[in-house]
Amino acid sequence: MSILVTGGAGYIGSHMVYALTDAGRDVVVLDNLSTGARGLVSDAARFVEGDAGNVALVTGLIAKHGVETIIHFAGSIVVPDSVADPLAYYANNTVVARSLIEAAVKGGVKNFIFSSTATVYAGESADPLSETLPTGPVSPYGRSKLMTEWMLEDCARAYDFRYVALRYFNVAGADAKGRTGQSSPRATHLIKRASQVALGRVAHLDIFGTDYPTADGTGVRDYIHVSDLVDAHARALDYLREGGPAAVMNCGYGHGASVRDVIASMERVTGRPLPVKEGPRRAGDPPWLVADARKVRDVLGWRPQHDDLDKIVRSAYAWEQRLNSVGHN
Ligand code: UD1
Repeated sequence: MSILVTGGAGYIGSHMVYALTDAGRDVVVLDNLSTGARGLVSDAARFVEGDAGNVALVTGLIAKHGVETIIHFAGSIVVPDSVADPLAYYANNTVVARSLIEAAVKGGVKNFIFSSTATVYAGESADPLSETLPTGPVSPYGRSKLMTEWMLEDCARAYDFRYVALRYFNVAGADAKGRTGQSSPRATHLIKRASQVALGRVAHLDIFGTDYPTADGTGVRDYIHVSDLVDAHARALDYLREGGPAAVMNCGYGHGASVRDVIASMERVTGRPLPVKEGPRRAGDPPWLVADARKVRDVLGWRPQHDDLDKIVRSAYAWEQRLNSVGHN
């Protein structure tokens, strides 16, 4: 019995694959290497280069390796890019997910874990967002993911199939053993960009919007360490195997940090001022996204181990320093 991880050569997926192989699990990674890197995949996993939306390929892998769970990380993740090219996002997120779910159902895979997003919420208030709130994504990215949640919900009703959709808040940081981390030189994540600036690889950090209705005028996000996020997936896997019903859960810490808070944290970590440039808002960005994280704690027994912004920033910065030396950049 094995676990199929799509996008297992990507940032979060590669951390998941290490966690699974460290625990002795049998893992098949499916990744088309469009943004992922082969070198980030644990040697203890089988690697297949290909598309998660290729039904024939996926049903073949399910049969060949006795896949019992699919963890679906593959997808496009940059909010402003989705505003500029929505069709690409609906193709690569929604359409691919539909094909993958079809392959799962056809192949008899009963458990499915899906990387959803906090951007399914509108993010117009400072209150923590509970899963019971109405959704209202403001970007095509958020919509492309919400449509996948709906497909999963319908399929769990219609077929012998259960899923957990984890709505990620803002994931950052890297593997404590330095084996993997956020490796795309074109990454747009705030903490990644701030690390590149701190190392002098990028001249300054743009602050996208200083006129939000937040305490200091900059966007507020709930930053969560990738290792805590991976632990939520490991628990979701056990939950589904033990027969838990289909569920949607937020993954965040329940408190927010502004762009300026992140800059201050990076300055504490490096002991140096960070060059910044204030600019206009970025398309598709909500002002606040902070999780109400009670459900994931209650249902999965999740207890985060890295709930500290400086710790997350230090971890991301350490990986960025290492990145040149391991040749992923
Ligand atoms: C991120 C994820 C998305 C996830 C979502 C959940 C990426 C690329 N996207 O989106 O997949 O679903 O979190 O909340 O990781 N900012 C700056 N300057 C920068 C970069 C960002 O000011 O150079 C600001 C943004 O305007 C925003 C905040 O920092 O207010 C976070 O932005 P970013 O790290 O890009 O993540 P999200 O767009 O929130």
